[in-house]
Amino acid sequence: MRITFILNGDDVGVESSPDRRLVDILRNEFHLTGTKAGCMGGRCGACTIIFNRAIVPACLVPVFYAQGSEIVTIEGFMQTDEYKDIQKGFREAAVENCGFCDGAKALVTESLLERKKLPERAEIISAFDSIKCRCTDARALADAVLAAAEIRTRRRYGRIN
Ligand code: FES
Ligand code: FES
Repeated sequence: MRITFILNGDDVGVESSPDRRLVDILRNEFHLTGTKAGCMGGRCGACTIIFNRAIVPACLVPVFYAQGSEIVTIEGFMQTDEYKDIQKGFREAAVENCGFCDGAKALVTESLLERKKLPERAEIISAFDSIKCRCTDARALADAVLAAAEIRTRRRYGRIN
């Protein structure tokens, strides 16, 4: 069947059997390999995408669910000022990573900061429950997200609160 959706702002379509995993479609048909294939069982979060404005693991989404949807992968998000805020915040907090789930962490951060301008530490830690990153501990991640939140708030409003 042909499945059409919006991918990183573009109208796209793909011929596929309906039950293929969205993560495989993104990686193999659209060459968006920033969406990582990790556990393929919804546990590691490396395949996280923004799907109709929500954070979801693309390994658990059969591609027919994507019909008419709006999807943002890390490649699309990297083109935005919001991504740059997050990148700067992570750098400022000196979070060093192997890179495997950096994209997923940036998208989770984005989803959180669009809901709450300056989240509490506990909210940040809970937002990252779905990402099992072996490189970053929760405290370092919270520092990085808070730094990104301040950078974004200052860029948008010229002050922190
Ligand atoms: S690959 Fe999707 S959650 Fe691990
Ligand atoms: S960045 Fe290395 S496992 Fe997450």
